[in-house]
Order: sequence, then C-alpha cells, then structure tokens
Amino acid sequence: RHQWRGVIEEYRELLAIPVDTPAITLGEGGTPLVRSGWLSEAGDAEVWLKVEGANPTGSFKDRGMTTAISVAVHEGAKACVCASTGNTSASMAAYAARAGITPIVLVPEGKIAAGKMAQALVHGAQVIQVRGNFDDCLNLSRGLAEHYPVALVNSVNPNRLEGQKTASFEVVDRLGDAPDVHLMPVGNAGNISAYWLGYTQYRDHTTKLPRMRAFQAEGAAPIVYDRVFPAPETRASAIRIGNPASWKLATAAAEESGGGFAALSDDAILHAQAELARNEGVFVEPASAAGVAGYLADLAAGTSYAGQTVVITVTGHGLKDTVTALEWFGEVTPVVVDADLDAAARAADLV
Ligand code: F0G
Repeated sequence: RHQWRGVIEEYRELLAIPVDTPAITLGEGGTPLVRSGWLSEAGDAEVWLKVEGANPTGSFKDRGMTTAISVAVHEGAKACVCASTGNTSASMAAYAARAGITPIVLVPEGKIAAGKMAQALVHGAQVIQVRGNFDDCLNLSRGLAEHYPVALVNSVNPNRLEGQKTASFEVVDRLGDAPDVHLMPVGNAGNISAYWLGYTQYRDHTTKLPRMRAFQAEGAAPIVYDRVFPAPETRASAIRIGNPASWKLATAAAEESGGGFAALSDDAILHAQAELARNEGVFVEPASAAGVAGYLADLAAGTSYAGQTVVITVTGHGLKDTVTALEWFGEVTPVVVDADLDAAARAADLV
C-alpha cells in the first residue's frame, strides 16, 4: 500500500524549489476530502470539506512550512522567524525542531489561542509577545530577517505558497476535476493565493477553474472594504489581520476566477463552527469555519449553488482553541453521578 510521503515528495516535480532540496517533513498533506451531506442538501449541491486540521500540527500551514523550512535549511539557515496569529508559529516551531534550527516567533500579546501557544513553546520556540497586532509583528519579522541571520518564513516567502498550492492538486486528484467553486477564510491572504496558483498550474488535469470565494471577519475585513483596518478585531483570532501581505494576489485570484470576497459576523462564524461539529463530526477552530459560514450566508442571501461541486477548506483543528469553542455554550458543567448504572441511565435520559 502507498504510504503518503509529504507534499514535497508527492509533488516535487510541480514545486518551484531547488530540485535537490532535501525534504524536512512530518508527512503533511494528503488530508481528507469529506463529503458534507448537511451542506449538500442545504444548497442542492455536492459539498466537500478539505479538512486541513488533519495536518501534523493541526493546520494547513504545514504544507508551506515543509517547503519553506526545507529550502531555508538547504540554503544554510540556522534560525527562522515568523509573525503569527498562532498556527504559523506552531507549524514553524515543529518543522524547525525537526530541522534542528532555532525558531523565533512574534505574536500579538494575549491574542493567540492557548493550544497554538502551547505548541510553539513545547517545540522550543523563542516566543516573543508584541504589544501590537499581527501586522506589527510581520513588520518586525521582516526587520529581523533583514538585519540578522534568520530566515523569514511568513507567506511573503514564495516557498510557502509553493507548498500550500498542493492542496489544490489533492482536491483535483480526488474529485477528478476542479470544483465549480472553492470557498475559504482569508487572513494574511497567502492561502487563497496558493490555491489559485495550484489550480491554474494543474490546468492539464481539469476541464475548468473554480470561482474563488473568500471570507473575512467583519471586524477584520480589509480586502472586502478595500481599506486597511488599523485595529482589527474578531473572535476568529487566526484571521485577525488588518493589512494582509498577499492582498494583491488574493484580489487577483478572486477577480480572475470570477469569485469574490465577503465579510461575516463573528456570530455567523461561531454558529457555523458549532453546526459543523454537531452535524458532520468535524471540529474546526473559529476562523476555519468562515468558509462554511460564508456558504450558508450566500444561500440565505439567495445565491444558488444548485447542481455545483463546492469545496470548502476548513483550515485548522478545533482543539487549537477550546476556550472560544466552549464559550458558545456558556457556563456548562457536565452532570456528575455516582458510579451507578441507574444514575448513569437517568443522567443520559435513557429512562
Ligand atoms: N485559517 C486559519 C486557521 C489560519 O490560521 C489562517 C492564518 C487563515 C485561515 C488565513 O490564511 O493568512 O493565508 O489568508 N493564519 C496565519 C497564522 C496568519 O499566523 O497562523 P491566510
């Protein structure tokens, strides 16, 4: 049986990285494409979820981190740096640990989910909390990489997009064609740019290109409203970004594909997160539910997806941010019983 080898070895000939780059890999990619009966019925469409939380560190970032860290190490890097809302730092820390180089992480103070912070720390990153937002952290990362011998691995590093574009290849390999529409959340805008790169590059395997439909949180929606958000705010902390680095690439992807951008309330995002967990058994972090929330909002607004093949990328695992997930339920303490069959049966509403 075929054992998945990670995105570099699976797709090496399609990646614009030096041919002899040894792969530093955790077996990332090859994630499940799960059909959603609930969402398919809701829109009379064929809806598939690309479940990126199934990657080694629990988010899609691993696809781009294997390429970015492999190339950086091949070029002699001894340290790497990134700004992050959490997932990039978790992923970078893991791949840096594997490569034996020093990870330096810049995050907005108090604004990243506990699971992601734990990952960065456990993998041995030097975590620096910045009094500022993600955009300030990215400016600092760029500055550190410019003045000191550290490799910048944010998605402004083109090797990141090279790895991340493999998600499009996997979708096409699995469906036998591109979908009619692809929905996803957008923060720093690297991922949508990478998917579009992947779909356009894989054109000889497809009869069409998907419309790229992208979603931002209402309080952090610079691309939707075409203006920088100096103080972005959303409970979907992963996409709390006011001035995305890949802004132009992302708008080009939306325009060239005939898709577009829209903003969603935090409530809509958190509601979609809870519904997805209840209806499909797929637990994603808040930001990751934005594509699902967007699909539902589009349907509610009268957009028809009838008869279409729809892929929604859910970008990161729900266990990254259990605090926000549980807030939805308010103060809930599961019932406590004695170790007694009748008591358990009563508590379970079976009698
Ligand atoms: N979903 C999740 C779970 C993310 O962590 C991110 C970005 C996005 C969506 C948006 O992807 O930035 O390529 O448009 N997280 C980055 C980070 C910013 O630092 O972890 P994007």
